[in-house]
Parts: sequence; C-alpha cells; structure tokens
Amino acid sequence: MHDNLGDVSGQFEVRRLGRTFFAEVVGLDLARPLDDAAFARVKAAHLEEGVLVFRDQRLTPEQQIAFSRRFGPLQVHPMGQFNLDGAPEILLVSSDRHPDGRPVGIADAGRYWHTDISYLKEPALGSLLYARAIPAEGGDTMFCDMTAACRDLAPDMRGKLMRLSAVHHFASRWAREAKKSGLRPAQTKNEQDRNPPVEHPMIRTHPETGDPALYAGGFAVGVAGLPPEAAEGLLDWLESWSTQPAYVYRHRWCLHDLVFWDNRRVMHRATEYPEHMRRHMHRTTVKGNAPYFAA
Ligand code: SIN
Repeated sequence: MHDNLGDVSGQFEVRRLGRTFFAEVVGLDLARPLDDAAFARVKAAHLEEGVLVFRDQRLTPEQQIAFSRRFGPLQVHPMGQFNLDGAPEILLVSSDRHPDGRPVGIADAGRYWHTDISYLKEPALGSLLYARAIPAEGGDTMFCDMTAACRDLAPDMRGKLMRLSAVHHFASRWAREAKKSGLRPAQTKNEQDRNPPVEHPMIRTHPETGDPALYAGGFAVGVAGLPPEAAEGLLDWLESWSTQPAYVYRHRWCLHDLVFWDNRRVMHRATEYPEHMRRHMHRTTVKGNAPYFAA
C-alpha cells in the first residue's frame, strides 16, 4: 500500500514504495526546468528516502544532464570510450555494439554490490539512471540501505568498523569483471595509473543528514592494517549483513523510468538478463565529498 509522504501541492507527490528508503515521485515532468520550490522538495525527498523513482519520463541527454546538475557538478566517467558522444557526462550502460563489434557502453556495469565511483577520493553523491531500452526479463537493479544496516549493528562490530578504513581500487575490480564476463576491454596502463587505491572510512557520516552509514562495496579490495584474509572476511561479512532482505529494494524497470539514488546511503547491484535481449541506459553521476566519520 502506498504511504503518501509529501504534500500534494498541485504539482507532484512523493509516495513511499515500501517501509523505508525508496519512494516514487508522481506527476513531475523532468524534461521541464524545475522551479526552486519543486527542486527543494525533490532534494528533501532524496535525502529522506535515498532512492527516488520517476516513471514515464521523456528525456533527451541534455535534459537529463540539466536535471542532474541541479544537485551538483557532474562526474565524467574515467572510461571515456563509454561516455555518450557529444555529452560525456552521460555514461552508457548498454548491451549495444558498434558496427565493428566494439561495445557501445559497459554492458555488465555494476553486477556486484557497490557504491558508485568509491575508488575516487571524492566519490559520487548520487547517480541518475534512465531506461531507454529494457529487456523483457531480468536487468533489475537492487538497492540496500546502508544507514539501516549501520543502525542495526551490534555495538562491538560498530566500534570495530568505526576505527577502520577500506581500500578502494578501480583497476582491480575492472580486471576481475573483465575476466568474468569477457564484455570489457582491459584497462590501459594509463587508465590504471590515473586511479590509484584510496582509503575511505567503513562507516561514513552523511554530510547532509548527519546519519552514519556503512561504506564499502565492490571497489573495496582490502582494509587498511588488516591482513588480506581478515580483510576479505570482514568485507564479505559487511556485504552479507547489508544485503539482508529487510534492507533491500529491487527495482524492476519500466521503459523511461529514471531512478536517482544516494551513493552516500545505498549500495546497488545490477542483475543479469538474457544475452540476446537489449538493455540501454543513460547514467549521470553527481560529484560528492570525501567521506569522513564524525563520532
Ligand atoms: C550501475 O552500477 O550504475 C549500473 C546499474 C544498472 O545498470 O542497473
């Protein structure tokens, strides 16, 4: 049953889709510029919910970029060959191929729990994914609420994680995925060198709400000060703790959905779909702050 969270001030409403952390914004056309009052309500809903779903949007790349930019400067994805020609702020997550067989986008992007661009010193605030073609089966995106998962930790585990930082590294994850799926080119030395490993606290404070959230995910390849086996065990534990069904929302895409999530609060993961089916998505990514933990 829908629980109406927002005031319906003649223009749009925010409907919660479940118990917590995901909601649908109904009645808003994102192709048109938002006035400041509407923008403030969307921003507040995003901070309150973590994942916002906007159905049935008809957006050109320029309109998606313009809406995304309201939330901050945009991050251009480091694998430039997968960004849209003429609009590099758009990352293509796509099963399409160029006539010569090269992949148009990252076909297998994010098929593991992660938070976007966590391998940078200043990882993403949020990501906006817009469905331009979807498969008849599969290809869902799952989200988990790292604030709730953090809140429910046992005190000793919380105390331990509060003092630890994970090491995040783009090239390690990329190589692993390339080997697994065969759908990605190997990174060049230059691409590897541009994104060296970075450390982030395993519990981070949300810079706008002040809420603590677990922070690790698929780009985390180690834990500072722990031997590899202990680090791997802890990262695996953290993922299975955070992705318990009580913390998870599974988004089943409809054509022209736009989903906007808060990378400071949620992890996400794309699911597989049959190889012969087409999935073509445009992602914009809003830059964020360097994660910190304020006790
Ligand atoms: C991503 O990780 O940004 C891609 C998610 C998806 O394709 O569902």
